[in-house]
Amino acid sequence: MTTISPSILSCDFLNFETDIKRLDTASDLWLHLDIMDGHYVPNLTFGKTILKNLHKVTSHTLDAHFMVSNPEDYVKEYSDIGIHNFSFHWEAVTHHDRMISFVKDHYKSVGIALNPGTPVESIPTYLIEKIDLILIMSVNPGFGGQSFIESSIEKVKYFKKLKDSLNPNLVIQVDGGVKEKNAKELIEAGATNLVAGSYIFNEPNKNYIQQIKSLR
Ligand code: DX5
Ligand code: ZN
Repeated sequence: MTTISPSILSCDFLNFETDIKRLDTASDLWLHLDIMDGHYVPNLTFGKTILKNLHKVTSHTLDAHFMVSNPEDYVKEYSDIGIHNFSFHWEAVTHHDRMISFVKDHYKSVGIALNPGTPVESIPTYLIEKIDLILIMSVNPGFGGQSFIESSIEKVKYFKKLKDSLNPNLVIQVDGGVKEKNAKELIEAGATNLVAGSYIFNEPNKNYIQQIKSLR
């Protein structure tokens, strides 16, 4: 089954716990945490103060997407709040191999996020064997509710080939503008994990479970 990762960026922060609990009955679900620093991207979201008790109100897997400059500065700081996957932006790091090892020392899963403008070939294939997740940004990072960039589907196909030959457990995650109308094509192309913020949390009747089912 495709893992769905609701991005809490679009949830109701005045009723944070209630909103998160609406996802309790869903299976194979990760909670996607978009951490933005107002520097690497032109938006500021939340940090450890907001996230530190999240694992006490949900049993879903916590998936952190760091859209920050100097992501190495966050690795140790966030390692004690139950985060499973730590994704950093390829473009924000100089010493990628070292950063992958550093994250692995502190988290079960390490992910690399690629901006829409970054060619897939930028990542040497030997590093594909060392990571757990590739995050294909299908919008420019910084905001929820943007339109899906169609060329992302070709990127998914590229990583699906590498997954098959080099790392069968690689999670192929797509993030940005994911909706019912593009989910099927993404899954067929090889995506195993779909992030969706506005599509899930903007449902007027707050029927998030129905939205998750429709993506699958
Ligand atoms: C964008 C974030 C996404 C975003 C997705 O920078 O990384 O996770 O919240 O939101 P939607 O699904 O609304 O595009
Ligand atoms: Zn994200």
